[in-house]
Amino acid sequence: MTKSRIAIFASGGGSNAEAIIKYFQHHNSVEIAAVVSNNPSALVLERAKKFGIKSVVFDKNQFRECDDVLNWLSENKITHIVLAGFLLLIPQRLIEAYPDKIINIHPSLLPKFGGKGMYGLKVHEAVIAAGEKETGITIHLVNDHYDEGKILAQEKCDVLPSDNSKSVAEKVLQLEHRHFPTVIERWVARG
Ligand code: GRF
Repeated sequence: MTKSRIAIFASGGGSNAEAIIKYFQHHNSVEIAAVVSNNPSALVLERAKKFGIKSVVFDKNQFRECDDVLNWLSENKITHIVLAGFLLLIPQRLIEAYPDKIINIHPSLLPKFGGKGMYGLKVHEAVIAAGEKETGITIHLVNDHYDEGKILAQEKCDVLPSDNSKSVAEKVLQLEHRHFPTVIERWVARG
């Protein structure tokens, strides 16, 4: 059987990328084929190397114009794209080339605390400032607006009076590592 070939797009630390790489290491129908980044000093590139996963860096213009990226994806027979902490907007042409084949994770219960500029600790600071009693993660298909594609899964955790943005970030990241790989597995299996 031909395996589905996933490219993980990531701009930063890549702890989700690592969780995904580990989960699919010996999978019979899914292969993590590459890590793609816009940031040449991203820690995710070291993580990819550690697991023997190919990586490539494109600059902002290449992503925006996207022919180089599209050609590379096609040469590498990439079937699915997973955004795991990828900070650039995905251009329309890339979305059209991969309809319903691009997935993203966001560290809040969308539609709350999403949209442009909502990333990293800013999300959790906003959750605390709003006095939310719970938060969580959203895994969704990608369209051409930040954080607005069809939701595939949401998982929740409590926000306690003793929490601060850092402790919320830790809880949310644990949810991400636990659930993102299995949601990806079900999404890819759907074809
Ligand atoms: C995660 O919180 C994810 O929800 C968001 O970016 C962060 C990436 O973390 N989209 P890491 O680079 O996987 O550690």
